[in-house]
Amino acid sequence: MNASSCLPTAVLVAGTGRHLDHFAQLGARGELPLDLRLCISHKAGVRALDHAERHGIPSIVVDPDRRVTPGELSEQVFAAVEQHGVQLVLMAGFLRLLPIPAAWEGRVLNIHPSLLPAFGGKGYYGDRVQAAVLQRGCKVAGCTVHYVNNEYDSGPILVQRVCPVLPGDTVESLGARVFEQELLAYPEAVRLHLEASQA
Ligand code: GRF
Repeated sequence: MNASSCLPTAVLVAGTGRHLDHFAQLGARGELPLDLRLCISHKAGVRALDHAERHGIPSIVVDPDRRVTPGELSEQVFAAVEQHGVQLVLMAGFLRLLPIPAAWEGRVLNIHPSLLPAFGGKGYYGDRVQAAVLQRGCKVAGCTVHYVNNEYDSGPILVQRVCPVLPGDTVESLGARVFEQELLAYPEAVRLHLEASQA
């Protein structure tokens, strides 16, 4: 797989960047045809930026002090994305609402650590998701990869993967089990997107 057959991609982060790291590893092994051109974070000093540097991926931080509107944030993000020749945007732990310009509809994906539409929307992020799953007494949990539209966690779904909730689970143990599924779901969704966009 040479770089010219890989899709120029940006990864949007704000946390530990585990998916960014995983995508870079898959790309380096020739297992996912992505050319990671840019990492964008809305938080400074996060571990995701260290992963970007280690993998040689240019990175920028946008609006770390939360001064701009969602529309202005979107302008900044997609201006940077277009400057870098990016054709696919993968959100992985990016927590701000990001309005999608018309030209980008169907080319921005996100992963969420629940079986949407359950436990999605504003306020459902990080440990809060699995805490709510446990509190409700759910017997299964999982993750969802979906296209991003202009509302939180509500675009068309590409992939969902399920795992059990086990007796004695904590937020941490359940979160780790869900994340194992996330590592399978996101690359699978990217492959489905690539197949659909090349058809
Ligand atoms: C993942 O669990 C994903 O579902 C959610 O953010 C997490 C990734 O965050 N959208 P991190 O960057 O690995 O901390």
